[in-house]
Amino acid sequence: MSNDIKDLKQPAKAGQKQLDSIHVFAPATVANVVCGFDVLGFAVNEPGDEVIMRVTDKPGITISKITGDDGRLPLNPAKNTVSVSVEHYLRSIDRLDIGLDIELHKKMPIGSGLGSSSASTVAGLFAIKTLLGDDTDPSTLLPFAMKGEEMACGHGHADNVAPALLGGFVLIRSYEPLDVVRLPHPAGLWCAIVFPDVDVPTREARQIIRKNIQMKDAVTQWGNIAGLVSGLFMQDIDLIGRSMKDVLVEPVRSMLIPDFYLMREMAMEMGAVSFGISGSGPSVFAFTRDEETAKRITQKLQQHLTNIKIGSNGYVSTINDAGPRVLG
Ligand code: HSE
Repeated sequence: MSNDIKDLKQPAKAGQKQLDSIHVFAPATVANVVCGFDVLGFAVNEPGDEVIMRVTDKPGITISKITGDDGRLPLNPAKNTVSVSVEHYLRSIDRLDIGLDIELHKKMPIGSGLGSSSASTVAGLFAIKTLLGDDTDPSTLLPFAMKGEEMACGHGHADNVAPALLGGFVLIRSYEPLDVVRLPHPAGLWCAIVFPDVDVPTREARQIIRKNIQMKDAVTQWGNIAGLVSGLFMQDIDLIGRSMKDVLVEPVRSMLIPDFYLMREMAMEMGAVSFGISGSGPSVFAFTRDEETAKRITQKLQQHLTNIKIGSNGYVSTINDAGPRVLG
């Protein structure tokens, strides 16, 4: 760690540059990556959420504006995941004396399976960290971001917040103690994402999955996780593709997604390397070897959803290695 956290316990000293406002973007993420329930995730370039944070005179946190949420998110700072995780962070560094106002601009659908709450929380935490000049490793923010996840869906999993915060492809090797490993990935991997506009809250999508699993299924699953991680290291896209199979969660959750298996067939026929549920759904994603194939798959799946009278959003991206960034 390059900075002693004690330094942050004091307001900026005279002559020390203290920012008084900041505008931050944090990316959407694809959690699970098919076979790695709760342990694998990666960040994408778009969509993502934005936070504008301003230092105010009065101690405490206010939320003055939320856009893009259709009025679904609370402005009450005690109930909003962004302000609650920022407050946890401020408490940890003994800086509850500070006054902050937050604007949250949602640029992706809520409950989409794209790590919507994680992107907002990470944007907020990255904003306050940067405002205070905290140059500790961004991974120190993970426990605070996980608090936000716990509040959003009842469980503090890290497979959205970790890639949103660190960028790239991330493995949560262990939760207790928290051990997060950044994985390499082939540069030419593209991702097609389609969000079918049906409601699948993560909290509920977690409740329907089986609590106990058969040894035979466990063997299949850990073989696939090891295969996927090996494929990432070896830059072997075929190995990545044949490893992205899930015998534990997908068979149950796919029932919540309209025409999931038909969309998979379409994507694979069009040259996808793999296809699966993004996070807890309803978004689905496919890896491809090039941008053109990713675009064609996105268009085809969206057209299919239109035909069955379901609205959708589509995104095409490479893996985002940068994570959150300051926009101004
Ligand atoms: N691993 C989590 C789940 C991700 O599948 O419930 C939620 O986006």
